[in-house]
Amino acid sequence: MYTLLQLLADGEYHSGREIGESLGVSRTAVWKQLKKLEPLGLQVDSVKGRGYRIAGGLDLLCADKIKAAMDTHATQLLPDLDLKFTVDSTNTQAMQRAITGGREAYVCIAELQSGGRGRRGKSWVSKLGGSLCFSVVWHFENGVAALEGLSLAIGVAINRALQDLGVTGVGLKWPNDLLFDGKKLAGVLIEIAGDAQGSCQAVVGIGLNVNLQQAAAGIIDQPWTDLLTISGTRVDRNLLLGGLLNEIAAVLTDFSATGFAAYQREWMSMDALAGREVIVMQGETQIVGVSAGVDPAGALCLDTADGRQRFHGGEISLRRVHS
Ligand code: BTN
Repeated sequence: MYTLLQLLADGEYHSGREIGESLGVSRTAVWKQLKKLEPLGLQVDSVKGRGYRIAGGLDLLCADKIKAAMDTHATQLLPDLDLKFTVDSTNTQAMQRAITGGREAYVCIAELQSGGRGRRGKSWVSKLGGSLCFSVVWHFENGVAALEGLSLAIGVAINRALQDLGVTGVGLKWPNDLLFDGKKLAGVLIEIAGDAQGSCQAVVGIGLNVNLQQAAAGIIDQPWTDLLTISGTRVDRNLLLGGLLNEIAAVLTDFSATGFAAYQREWMSMDALAGREVIVMQGETQIVGVSAGVDPAGALCLDTADGRQRFHGGEISLRRVHS
């Protein structure tokens, strides 16, 4: 399937014979393989006498192109880029490496996830050629407590990479969402393996909507957006992923020494809910207040009727005023 996609990625017509010869299969087998592309959200045009094409082409990931976009620091720190066509979840793959591997960093990238996971047991929807789904394994020495605020710092890193490509106006929503115009653009899922008090590995999983089109409409259970909608132009996913790895490598390198405090000011400057009336959910409990940013540890600050409260976990949402 991957070879077929690589052939059709240019958006040009390819005859059944040419495809068959490239894949070393019969015309019937070609047709069967082409049929399998539709459930992946790809529109295959077929014109008699010309052959088949993927309308608009397909922007496939390429390890060499990603590496070419990485700076020296990131290349040294993240030399192991494992680009897979399809996996269940890059976080699950990366977690296996975190458990069995040594202290080396590792990056798992996938074109397709069959079981992409979001926070709180939700699934993460992505589209072939239209998303970025990847996970970075990074070793830390000082236990889980020292990782508080890491997902917020990663949000800052993602936003820096987007700004480098000219994408501005993206906001951060505590603790791990990137929003544009109130709609979800990207999310971060961090999972930990190892000793909760000492030497441990963080799996930092990132999902970003690049060009989901209508494939995702009706599947994603919350308002969403993608980079194509925001910027009006196609973003080169290889270039973007290289830039993301540059910024993420920088944050991961510094975080052990600085903690979240070094990113607090920048995070606050992009706080999508600052000054808004919100509800914080902690289990079954709902606390209403005005969102007042985050403290140096990355805890959410909420001004409530009982004064300022801090939250180290939970979910925040805008309070809807009923008329
Ligand atoms: C969230 O917003 O709930 C977090 C979403 C994280 C999704 C990414 S996609 C790459 C990595 N693999 C997964 O299964 N999940 C994360």
